[in-house]
Amino acid sequence: MKNASFLNEIKNSIDRNKLPEHIAIIMDGNGRWAAKKGLPRTAGHKKGMDTVDMIVTASRNLGIKVLTLYAFSTENWRRPEKEVNFLMRLLKTYLIIQRRKMMKNKIKFNVLGRIQELPVFVRKEIEKTKNLTSENTALTLNIALNYGGRVEIVDAVRRLFKDILTAKKDLNYETLINSIDEETISNYLYTAGFPDPDLLIRTSGELRISNFLLWQIAYSEIFITETLWPDFSETDFYMAVLDYQKRERRYGGVKNL
Ligand code: FPP
Repeated sequence: MKNASFLNEIKNSIDRNKLPEHIAIIMDGNGRWAAKKGLPRTAGHKKGMDTVDMIVTASRNLGIKVLTLYAFSTENWRRPEKEVNFLMRLLKTYLIIQRRKMMKNKIKFNVLGRIQELPVFVRKEIEKTKNLTSENTALTLNIALNYGGRVEIVDAVRRLFKDILTAKKDLNYETLINSIDEETISNYLYTAGFPDPDLLIRTSGELRISNFLLWQIAYSEIFITETLWPDFSETDFYMAVLDYQKRERRYGGVKNL
């Protein structure tokens, strides 16, 4: 009872007029959570999936517009094959189970990353979920999968180059190249059309960015908690939002006088 009233107290103290529009999360600590309990690493990922479900619902109900979760990096292929296979199957299961709830809660599903390199059985569920939820407007859930911040920039530059090379011949290359600005680059990233994250949360206490949204987090507020992802609670989530609301965002400027 005490916990429930604390949760409500925290939730009610959030200023609904000052919500972060976009929250990004580095979900870390599944392996350590499992090890602490003498369980295989995969048990940590399974419990981590329950946390994902809870945080997606909490974000949607709070009024967050975009939630981006780092689920699998371009470097995660280096993990044991058994763990990689488990994560891929878990993603498939998550999508199959959650589709109905996404529709009920008007959640639009999207993936950031080199999707074409994922196993066909995952791609199939991704496409199905993306198509089904494409008209939903409450919250966009971006899952970063086979995602790397540097690879994202490489992909953006490749596509931009291609567009320049295939541009109309009557256009002057120099004019074209000089017209490239920050907005151009943003528009070629996987996150084109989304606002940059206002708040970046990392669980498990590591003080690293781990190749996540390198361009987009230029001015994000960062919240790091020691809590391991499977233990990350709704209360922890609201505490992060409250902490964000206390920050003064200056974007390199000075305090309003
Ligand atoms: C990091 O913990 C976590 C991952 C690499 C995988 C994240 C996956 C989930 C939360 C579950 C499924 C996700 C979705 C979207 C359904 P780690 O394994 O690096 O932990 P450690 O640092 O303690 O070893």
